[in-house]
Amino acid sequence: MLNTIMNSSNYTYPDRNERLTSRLIQSYKETRWNLEEAYVFKKVKNTVLKENEKLTVSLDVGTGLGRLIPFLLSISTKVIAIDADLWRLRRAMEFFENEPNIFFLWTKGSRLDPLPPECVDFINYSHVAQHVSHYELLETLGEFYRILRDDGWLLLLTTHSEGKEWFLVSTENGIKEIKRNEYEKLTRNSQPGKLPVRKFDVDYLEALLRDFGFKIEWKIYYHIKPEFAPRDEIEKPKSFNENPSKRDPEQWVEEIIETLKSINSNEMDARRKALDVALLLRKG
Ligand SMILES: C[S@@+](CC[C@H](N)C(=O)[O-])C[C@H]1O[C@@H](n2cnc3c(N)ncnc32)[C@H](O)[C@@H]1O
Repeated sequence: MLNTIMNSSNYTYPDRNERLTSRLIQSYKETRWNLEEAYVFKKVKNTVLKENEKLTVSLDVGTGLGRLIPFLLSISTKVIAIDADLWRLRRAMEFFENEPNIFFLWTKGSRLDPLPPECVDFINYSHVAQHVSHYELLETLGEFYRILRDDGWLLLLTTHSEGKEWFLVSTENGIKEIKRNEYEKLTRNSQPGKLPVRKFDVDYLEALLRDFGFKIEWKIYYHIKPEFAPRDEIEKPKSFNENPSKRDPEQWVEEIIETLKSINSNEMDARRKALDVALLLRKG
């Protein structure tokens, strides 16, 4: 069932016809991209789950098409999925229509009024923070603190600006390159109907989260930039007669994990080499 508390019906997530971000994502090998994220989620699961015991309620804020709902159902009995874009939320609902333990709410992260204080065990805020205005982010963090149980968890996945000085943006006159401080100023307020996305100064983001009463359980930088990723990928065979690959896929996964671990052993290195950051937080 869909509950609504949005009174403005015009928000649409502007990813359609957005060429810059999709071009960036395409420069990454899809399998590596997904495996690195899977590594982060595995670590989340190992941290938050006690033996044979699931959490009760997870909240997926900015669920989009519900891509991460299966993960949330693997760690909690019930999932509440919210999104500001009704079109996307409806598609997620259609996909999970036979699943009785998922509840959908059409609202923004800053408007969680129907949820009482301390009612959820886990909040997933995956790749949404970079799309909202600074003000919306502040209000959302306040709501997260209010609705999270004292022993609950907040997972924040987002993108950061470390290790880069110039950024591409789409303008009416085409694509332009601007400096880091200009980019940060430009993307502090979301631009109606537009990406690019905000990229966070990680120290600033951490300080902000602490100000809102959260403490960091752990942090992983992931989505290694192509120039720093090991080159040896599994290639698809070009023809039926050709040997698929001499490499063992499991060995390849191990290699990805090892690379991530090694990059993450040095904060500055990790910031320079990876595009995204995952922060697992608790109430302080
Ligand atoms: C990049 S997608 C991420 C989807 C999903 N969390 C994932 O990781 O696959 C961003 C989603 O955030 C939603 N969104 C944007 N602003 C929001 C807000 N203020 N509150 C809730 N959802 C929002 C968009 O509609 C979109 O579905």
